[in-house]
Amino acid sequence: MSPRERLAVILRKNWLIPVIAIEDAGAAVPLAQALVAGGVTTLEVTLRTAAAADAIGRIVREVPQATVGVGTIRSADDVERAVDLGAQFGVSPGTTPKIYAACAAANLPLLPGAATASEILLALEHGCEIVKFFPAVPAGGIAAIKALRGPFPSLQFCPTGGINEANLSDWLAVPGVIAIGGSWLAPDDKVRARDWDAITDIARRSRARRATIAA
Ligand code: 3PG
Repeated sequence: MSPRERLAVILRKNWLIPVIAIEDAGAAVPLAQALVAGGVTTLEVTLRTAAAADAIGRIVREVPQATVGVGTIRSADDVERAVDLGAQFGVSPGTTPKIYAACAAANLPLLPGAATASEILLALEHGCEIVKFFPAVPAGGIAAIKALRGPFPSLQFCPTGGINEANLSDWLAVPGVIAIGGSWLAPDDKVRARDWDAITDIARRSRARRATIAA
């Protein structure tokens, strides 16, 4: 399978993606296990924190049920780090030709950040037909996705930024939305409190919300 096909398979299988910023690597494995227990097995673990690399390594080694994407890729060096850490895909908030080239060279599927028509055109030029629509709410929300579907009817979106348990059903109901992501699935306060049961409950409840919308 090509990297592009691998990404589509991953996102179709697991359409709820926690965007995780881990401050304490010791929380990584129990957090990942709590999410997996709630049926959420595809994780975006961001490179935003000092503990990120340690956390990603631990999840990759110790939670084999999880599909780990490395997020907040901002450079070609970050792509290398992601590959070295065992990422199955990369996620970027926006993207540059250097990042596309590094992902292609490493055979790493990329979910590139794109919030404008020009950024989408750049993604398409690099063979990416699924984009992370970020920051989803500030960049125009559902209305923006509907408008962008005009010129790009076959594009698929994974919106993140401002999505939560209360509004996720609205996002999932938008044509072209293949998956959604956000930090509500791994809230800082619950991670700090080591309240893994609460995180499993959030994951379960969020998954169940899809049952309320048309397939
Ligand atoms: C991301 O990188 O996708 C966002 O930081 C997630 O945004 P949220 O915290 O609003 O879910």
